[in-house]
Amino acid sequence: MNILILGAGGREHTIAWKLKESQTPTQLFVAPGNAGTAQIATNLAIGVTDFPAIKEAVLTHDIQMVVVGPEDPLVLGVHDFFLADPALTDVPVIGPQKAAAALEGSKDFAKQFLMRHHIPTAAYQAFTAKNLEVGYNFLDTLKPPYVLKADGLAAGKGVLILEDLAKAKEELKNMLVDAKFGAASTTVVIEEFLDGIELSCFVLTDGKNYKVLPTAKDYKRIGAGDTGLNTGGMGAISPVPFADTAFMDKIHKRVVEPTIQGLEKDGLPYKGFIFIGLIKVGEDPFVIEYNVRLGDPETEVVLPRLKTDLVAVFNAVAKQTLDQIQLEMDPRTATTVMSVAGGYPEAYEKGHEISGLETPSDALIFHAGTTIQNGRVVTNGGRVLAVTSFGNDYKEALSRSYDRLKSISFKDIYYREDLGFDLD
Ligand code: AMP
Ligand code: GLY
Repeated sequence: MNILILGAGGREHTIAWKLKESQTPTQLFVAPGNAGTAQIATNLAIGVTDFPAIKEAVLTHDIQMVVVGPEDPLVLGVHDFFLADPALTDVPVIGPQKAAAALEGSKDFAKQFLMRHHIPTAAYQAFTAKNLEVGYNFLDTLKPPYVLKADGLAAGKGVLILEDLAKAKEELKNMLVDAKFGAASTTVVIEEFLDGIELSCFVLTDGKNYKVLPTAKDYKRIGAGDTGLNTGGMGAISPVPFADTAFMDKIHKRVVEPTIQGLEKDGLPYKGFIFIGLIKVGEDPFVIEYNVRLGDPETEVVLPRLKTDLVAVFNAVAKQTLDQIQLEMDPRTATTVMSVAGGYPEAYEKGHEISGLETPSDALIFHAGTTIQNGRVVTNGGRVLAVTSFGNDYKEALSRSYDRLKSISFKDIYYREDLGFDLD
């Protein structure tokens, strides 16, 4: 089976690796891919939102399924593009259609969905430049810290959490009037601050049936103790130790079931992953955000724990027969530690040779920002490599990931050495 994966990160390398383990022989293509995907697939030099080039590649390589990694193509309607074209309409796309992808593409749309379906989430209101004054008045009614969110996609940077009321008002104006996040902040969601610990829950749906995948927790900040700037994610742990059966039951009943029913009631076509960002406040789950894809680096711990054949799973999503699939999970804990280029998430260098990749080990190395230059694997992004290990608990798994990292080097390599610090 010929499968095209869209994307270039650790998530896409992990998806490719898992598909390659299938009983069904596959020919994999990744657009644009990285040095890791090049080892198991054919990389195609195509951008993830270049729909005409994607079409050409699908026809040229006789692609029979497309798996979408990142959100941008989904929010822009890549699935709808396939359905609307007679030459592509029979090629299944794993990822929701545009109308449903707005759950990630618009925070206001997501909040309305959550409210309409009575799914627990922070109280909020949405504002545009026209009602800036009403926005100021709303901020006056809230207690600090203040949470301001650009409505649209802002590369993970569109959320501001501010302690000071005057600063919050200033930033609201920056976003709405001065387009701080471009068109993404034409509308701004202001919401109540929720104090708790975060985790993510992953669901796969075929539009009729669904399966809940393992939970994961990622570490977004660059510095030890969750300090410093936000990143794409510095590491992840699955399962999340504090997500016990009682709490998972609440997530299923209060969040997952009403989400799936809500998609159906609202007529939102969905064949793909739903990534539900949650916060545990006291003993209760609240939804912080929906993403319409798998997370990165959460994928690097969730998919290695999946024992079921992923090609069979995706085929079932395409045919809406997910109810006939039994998902089996490795009960052990998986952890991944992301190594990044010095300076990231601010300015960093690229093009440095990576050594130590061949050292024998049980750890799995998933490439993120890497490429091949003159036959050598070199750094090509801020997040460079994710090192995944298994253990009986997160501490054992983490010590294996850290051990493996000791033998990997590139100029100014950095990784967080305190993952899991908040779990005891
Ligand atoms: P989002 O892009 O909506 O996931 O927000 C980015 C990050 O901001 C989240 O991962 C949380 O750490 C934080 N955050 C967002 N909304 C809230 C909230 N209502 N209360 C507390 N923290 C929040
Ligand atoms: N790790 C967070 C994300 O993929 O959005």
